[in-house]
Amino acid sequence: MVHELQNGQIILGGGGHARVVRDTLRALGWLARVRGVVALSMSEAERVALGLPYLGADAVLESWAGTGIELINAVGSVGATIRRRELYERCRGMGFGFATLIHPSAWLAGDVEPGAGSQLMAKALVQSGVAVGENVLINSGAIVEHDCRLGAHVHVASGAVLCGGVCVGEGAHVGAGAVVRQGIGIGAGAVIGAGAVVVRNVRDGAVVMGCPAGERVR
Ligand SMILES: CC(C)(COP(=O)(O)OP(=O)(O)OC[C@H]1O[C@@H](n2cnc3c(N)ncnc32)[C@H](O)[C@@H]1OP(=O)(O)O)[C@@H](O)C(=O)NCCC(=O)NCCS
Repeated sequence: MVHELQNGQIILGGGGHARVVRDTLRALGWLARVRGVVALSMSEAERVALGLPYLGADAVLESWAGTGIELINAVGSVGATIRRRELYERCRGMGFGFATLIHPSAWLAGDVEPGAGSQLMAKALVQSGVAVGENVLINSGAIVEHDCRLGAHVHVASGAVLCGGVCVGEGAHVGAGAVVRQGIGIGAGAVIGAGAVVVRNVRDGAVVMGCPAGERVR
């Protein structure tokens, strides 16, 4: 089994983002490299929808550590990014490397080098001078303008717009369709609600929403 999987790729996660990842791999011509999917559990319907071999739960990864197989983080997030982050860090700790995915329809300025394991999904747009940390997800149609800085594990969800020079701290989530004004700082682990318009800095761990975005009182 180990021998068969050498130099292939394994997808981690079997939900909706995994299907988006599968289609990105197909568009890149990489789908034949995929040996299967590792996920905590997958229903029969999920297995049929994904159409890739189910290899088992996370524990099966141990036998492939150090074989050269590459992982792809296909755990999505609709708010806190902690599950994507924990999985990535645990697997890195086991010695795995993660593939960097750039959909052929994504546009990336020539001076941008995405961090290891980052994913730019279909029609994402990343302009000059942007720093992209490891395990960052820039989802479908998101726009990251010039000179933004995205810390590790950030998720810029579908259709969000970061104006120039926005700084997003580690593990923050910028919700679908949100707009962040130029030069704003978003703290580590913060969650920006879908459709929010962010015009003031956001502190670490805060949840903000609305227009103009305000912090939720817990
Ligand atoms: C902001 C967010 C994290 C809050 O999630 P939650 O804690 O489960 O919040 P709830 O759904 O319980 O809603 C709590 C209240 O906030 C309001 N609310 C929730 N999300 C909101 C948003 N994005 N903008 C404005 N108000 C929002 C709800 O209407 C509700 O108001 P009420 O108490 O007056 O009824 C979530 O709604 C959100 O926007 N997540 C981002 C989703 C996303 O980006 N998906 C992308 C996948 S690619």
